[in-house]
Amino acid sequence: MAEHRKYLVAGNWKMNISSSDVGRLISEINAKIANITKVDVLVCPPFTSIQAAKDAIGSIGNISLGAQNFYPEKNGPYTGEVSAIMLRELGVSYVIIGHSERRIYFNEDDDFINRKVRFALGSSLIPILCIGETIEQRRDGKEFAIIQSQLKNGLKNITVQEVEKLTIAYEPVWAIGTGETATPKTAQEMHAFIRSFLKEMFNAETANAVKILYGGSMKSDNAEELLKEDDIDGGLIGGASLKATSFCEIIEIANLLSA
Ligand code: 13P
Repeated sequence: MAEHRKYLVAGNWKMNISSSDVGRLISEINAKIANITKVDVLVCPPFTSIQAAKDAIGSIGNISLGAQNFYPEKNGPYTGEVSAIMLRELGVSYVIIGHSERRIYFNEDDDFINRKVRFALGSSLIPILCIGETIEQRRDGKEFAIIQSQLKNGLKNITVQEVEKLTIAYEPVWAIGTGETATPKTAQEMHAFIRSFLKEMFNAETANAVKILYGGSMKSDNAEELLKEDDIDGGLIGGASLKATSFCEIIEIANLLSA
């Protein structure tokens, strides 16, 4: 196996974990990963729990903070929205963009997603650009075309220097929250395709540097097989990141694979 890019294991806590529970969860995670040095760990709480998460991580924490969303304007009359600057102020360094739940429930399209990616980069937030096909698209044999178009549109007008800063997450919609994980072979095939398309759009060195995470029912019992694959550089984990034990088992696996 070729040497891996540094693994990133990220928890997307979605609309779970209130601010009163976040401190306990983070303390448990912190305690379990005290000796982990080879893996980047990230948690993405709901907006209202970010401050509590920051307090719990404190200055000793080896955990980065991410947000699940933001609005791509500096400030202004956008009732209910939160800006990149506000997130930076809370110590947030990553932001999830283009998650299928936002594409589906909040009608976010590729143009808006591209605007968010560009704005995040301009605001020193690392975008985690999520892409993924539905089961119908896969059944119709369109999965590669869909991924290619989400990538092409999501990364429009982004420079080589910028793309090196972002992270991509392949999250097949049919695997999210369903317990049905992509097989390592299926996931690797798509990750390799994403990397080769990045090479086409940018260059080989850049394509090689970008982290591509897998998301969709990743758990401690399937993480090793997935993370062993050459082009899978970590996980974006929903359900299994809500419990310190299962989340940290995945982090531990990534750490062992990095030895
Ligand atoms: P699950 O791990 O619950 O399938 O969620 C994956 C996901 O959507 C992460 O962003």
